[in-house]
Amino acid sequence: MRIGIDRFGLAIPDLYVDLREVALRRGDEPDKYTIGIGQDEQAVAPSSQDIVTLGAAAVMEFRGDIDDDRLGLLVVGTESGVDSSKASALYIHRLLGLPESVRCLEIKEACYGGTAALMMARDYVAAHPDKQALVIAADIARYGLATSGEVTQGAAAVAMLVSAAPRVLDIHDDSIVRSEDIQDFWRPLYTDCALTRGKYSTLKYIEFFDDVWDRYREAHGCGLDRFAALCFHLPFSKMGLKALRSVLPQAGEEQQRKLLERYQASTRYCRRIGNAYTGSLYLGILSLLENDDTLRAGDELGIFSYGSGAVGEFFTVSLAEGYAGNLDRDGHLARLAHRRKLSVDEYEAVFSDKIPYSAKDYRTDEKYHAGPFVLTDVTGQERHYAAR
Ligand code: CAA
Repeated sequence: MRIGIDRFGLAIPDLYVDLREVALRRGDEPDKYTIGIGQDEQAVAPSSQDIVTLGAAAVMEFRGDIDDDRLGLLVVGTESGVDSSKASALYIHRLLGLPESVRCLEIKEACYGGTAALMMARDYVAAHPDKQALVIAADIARYGLATSGEVTQGAAAVAMLVSAAPRVLDIHDDSIVRSEDIQDFWRPLYTDCALTRGKYSTLKYIEFFDDVWDRYREAHGCGLDRFAALCFHLPFSKMGLKALRSVLPQAGEEQQRKLLERYQASTRYCRRIGNAYTGSLYLGILSLLENDDTLRAGDELGIFSYGSGAVGEFFTVSLAEGYAGNLDRDGHLARLAHRRKLSVDEYEAVFSDKIPYSAKDYRTDEKYHAGPFVLTDVTGQERHYAAR
């Protein structure tokens, strides 16, 4: 049975900052950000936009394709959860008016959570072939102003409808996984900014990729030539490139050129949005499918998912017949183009206006309310969301 992604949805904050301007403010060379790190712009999420509002907005792109009688599972993969107990999936479930018969939960393992959710959804559909499952990979990546991670912040939600006979891509049951308890990146419960051993994290990312790829090609007796493209978790666009370069010598010259060209297409959205943690890999796949018109139905993609802490997984997908007709390239490019640019001062103010880690009441700034759903306030220690 073919099982995979039937529809993709994307939500991004409507605010962004130009990273060349941030570089100058921090006394850094703009080229370090745009070439050395490979990021041009960064999505900025005001406090009214969290993983709930972005996640629900991403699903709205294909709400009409969800069959309420067939939907059985809603899983949110995130490391920006809004509550230590209640799943964000339940807020999203209400905002979208989904039926009570849907099983709702949230899943966490750093940037790997989206893949964990997707694999759970695939297994669910394998066991219940008539059902649909909804996966949301949503995150707000924050390191703090003037930190070395600042250039790799960002925010987005990618929603995926998983079913049998998918119209966009088939997910193959061929994963190779590596899990190991390491301390490369983490976020203590009392802060909304991540801590990281930056250089170490980049080395572990490459080590995990090399390991799962080596084991994959050994297990499946294949080489890089089998793949039309490789897609990577993209904390920043240079990261996947470093991993890709570590294996490129295994391919012939023409294949190397093709993989590099398609890699660039996979980073188009990341360069303008930044890191979306669990969503980044799926943002990269979407970026490739929407920005490369040389791919064909049946083409296979090798996929590397990495979540710090750490879990790495390599699996493959293949493109469904007519996949391009089930995407929304023009809509996504228009949304990127129509975002509001913030000055560095405005970005710093929006970044610093956040929900306190205390019982104090808080109202979000209506000036920045945007999108179909917003967080209006946190009063009496409860979050309140509204449709606009
Ligand atoms: N022109 C062009 N390039 C320049 C330059 C200039 N003027 N100045 C510097 N560069 C280059 C450097 O040579 C370097 O290139 P290489 O990496 O190819 O050697 C690159 O710009 C970055 O420079 P630094 O190494 O000096 O950068 P940094 O020390 O400020 O930190 C970082 C970079 C470690 C990625 C940091 O931004 C960070 O900690 N980010 C968060 C952690 C992260 O994203 N880790 C990724 C792996 S973990 C993961 O994937 C999970 C996740 O989502 C977080």
